[in-house]
Amino acid sequence: MDQNQTPLFDSIMKFNERRPAYFRIPGHRFERGINQRWRDVVGDAIFQFDLTETPYTDDLHNAQGAIAQAQELAAEVFGADATYFLVNGTTCGNQAMVMTAAFEGETVAIPRNAHKSALMGLIMSGAKPVYLMPQLHEEWGLHGGISPQDVERLFQEHPDCRGLMVVSPTYYGVCSDIRAIAQVCHSHGAILMVDEAHGAHCYFSEKLPAGGLTQGADMVAQSIHKVTGSLTQSSMLHTRWERIDRGRLEGNLHLVQSTSPNYLLLTSLDMARHDLAVRGGELIANAVELAKYARQKINDIPNIRCAGREIVGTAGISDLDETRLVISAAQLGMEGFRLEDILFEEYGCDVELSDYNNVLAIVTFANVKEDVDRLIAALADISRRFAGGTPLSKGKPLPAQPQALMTPRRAYFSANEEIPWEQACGRISAEMIAPYPPGIPLIYPGERMTDQVWEFLDEYRRRGGHLQGPADPQLNTCRVIRE
Ligand SMILES: Cc1ncc(COP(=O)(O)O)c(C=O)c1O
Repeated sequence: MDQNQTPLFDSIMKFNERRPAYFRIPGHRFERGINQRWRDVVGDAIFQFDLTETPYTDDLHNAQGAIAQAQELAAEVFGADATYFLVNGTTCGNQAMVMTAAFEGETVAIPRNAHKSALMGLIMSGAKPVYLMPQLHEEWGLHGGISPQDVERLFQEHPDCRGLMVVSPTYYGVCSDIRAIAQVCHSHGAILMVDEAHGAHCYFSEKLPAGGLTQGADMVAQSIHKVTGSLTQSSMLHTRWERIDRGRLEGNLHLVQSTSPNYLLLTSLDMARHDLAVRGGELIANAVELAKYARQKINDIPNIRCAGREIVGTAGISDLDETRLVISAAQLGMEGFRLEDILFEEYGCDVELSDYNNVLAIVTFANVKEDVDRLIAALADISRRFAGGTPLSKGKPLPAQPQALMTPRRAYFSANEEIPWEQACGRISAEMIAPYPPGIPLIYPGERMTDQVWEFLDEYRRRGGHLQGPADPQLNTCRVIRE
């Protein structure tokens, strides 16, 4: 295919050239109905792309024209049998994948560190989850990969398991051995889904881990918006048809997406694909080189470290996306949370996230050397200012996974009540509770609260840690199943 084409962009341009009297939705009639203060800042042209299913612009939910062509071009670039554009992020891609893998009551395997969208997929499908816990890399205090041996063990214990989802690369750039895991899944008649929210760039550089599709995954969902240049909320789901039921996947995609998909987002996917196809190698090489330079310089700074290839081969980590800079000032006695604050408030460097041990800085093709130099200079100054601090002690290990008494779906839709947090021990949780970061749920809906989980969460909430999932984020109360 001619990857220089941009079918969706072109069809919108063609429509706008005709400038018909417009009586459809959206009602802002392109720039005319948009707030003037906003127009003064961003200009008018962008609003011409906010339209709907006109005779030129196809229909995401029954694509046969410009969107279909744009999706076919994307499928070719990523090596998929088919690609679907998503306007509700990889969140909806994960939901659709989980719902496609298993019907109500069937078993599906999810890593315990899965994004919460996997849980939403479980709630919507009624599938029965079994969990895999990624290994912990103790030195860096981060979760490693899922090993093929763990996956084989899982299928021995749950031979009826219909599919497995793996997050690879993770937020921290950690990859599992997808090729070997795909073989294990397929040998047990199960499908492999990869949450590749953080991995679309991997298809464009040999210096990065191989993409999931090229290693035998059946479906992958990618946040093109995260590091490959499209607008926030736009993602793609790629599939190979051999083991996937097309009608079921498409039905599930209808279920989780708006009937009014945003054409700005869709166009941004078409344009990002174009850039990736015609100069992706050159663009992503820029990110790889910048990150390499940053890692070397950061590792020269006393008492500051940046994780690198030395962690590959440990904790189930089979490869590393080196454009993720996992940076620790633990030797200075500084938690990642504090390092993030100082970097932003005092040095104007805004990193993606922090945890107890580390901060995570993401380098993309659109970063420039000045950005990286600013980060290096900030870290060098922090190293001087805080020299002599007592090195940080290791973080507390996570408590064991509690027993599940109900599927997430049954728990989610069962009558529940709000109770004081102090009374939660021994009750069945109606909600997921995950300290964030790293976002690993310590309890899922349908699991019984153990003393160990309660104590861990209690200490976390007292320290003012950020929690995802509970209706009361301060956790003064929590929701439990009415018994
Ligand atoms: C591992 C993982 N999966 C899925 C998602 C959801 O992706 P999106 O923001 O594109 O909906 C995220 C978001 O951060 C993520 O980190």
